[in-house]
Amino acid sequence: MEINTEVGPIGAEIRGIDLSQPLAASAYSEIHEAWLRHGVLFFRDQTLSPSAQAAFAEHFGELDVYPFMQAVTEHENVIPIVKEADATLNFGGDWHTDTSYKAVPPKATLLYAVEVPPTGGDTLFADATAAFSALSPAFQETLSGLSGIYTPKMVHGKGGGYRNVSAKDQLGGAYGGNDEFAESEVEHPLIRTHAETGRKSIYCSRPHTHRVKGWTREESKSIIAYLTSHLTQDPFVSRLEWTQGTLAMWDNRCLFHNALNDYHGHRRHMHRVIIRGEPPE
Ligand code: SIN
Repeated sequence: MEINTEVGPIGAEIRGIDLSQPLAASAYSEIHEAWLRHGVLFFRDQTLSPSAQAAFAEHFGELDVYPFMQAVTEHENVIPIVKEADATLNFGGDWHTDTSYKAVPPKATLLYAVEVPPTGGDTLFADATAAFSALSPAFQETLSGLSGIYTPKMVHGKGGGYRNVSAKDQLGGAYGGNDEFAESEVEHPLIRTHAETGRKSIYCSRPHTHRVKGWTREESKSIIAYLTSHLTQDPFVSRLEWTQGTLAMWDNRCLFHNALNDYHGHRRHMHRVIIRGEPPE
């Protein structure tokens, strides 16, 4: 197994490994270590059925269920993420960490490219740990004492961006449901400490953090917007140009990502698995 770190400020490409086959226990440990160190791993030229993708993911923890998308028929933990050629809305098209509005958000996401557009449709990844470390110590301390109210409602609630779209822009028949949960709120810190590395990262995000606890929504929006623009500066961001058969595996506790929506007229089809994490602290 070869680890190439020349992919940008964060992430690594892992070569010389076929994830559709069982690996030695030491290989899973090496992958886990590389994932903790680099935040996101890219595996090119894989051939993974939904079951094979889920079987690989299970080596790193218990698989989680995504609340707003029906799974593919082959596996209850694999969801399709599809943007049809005639759609304009994409899924995950703003800086976020996956499902941070759950009481126990997933620690990892594994996204596999089934079909990619001829150009565009890249995913950007931002290092929220390095971004936190680059803030002044006094600001770090202030932020570390704050918690936020996280919710799916701004995206998935009845007034949310994914529910109020024209028929052509729907995210597909697999999307929807869980209306009560879509309006729910949960409290998490704005800055979380990684359960395995002990390092602190920015965690609040534009689509999922409604407000800082005790602050108005307007006051909160400005600090969340500032932190988003801070963490998405070039020195913290790597870009994945997908090719069919690429699997990306990222750490949702310390990385943000953003799916670019610049390939109208072409289809993009991914399979996604998430791994259960721990309550953010
Ligand atoms: C997501 O936010 O999980 C989707 C990312 C992507 O499609 O690139």
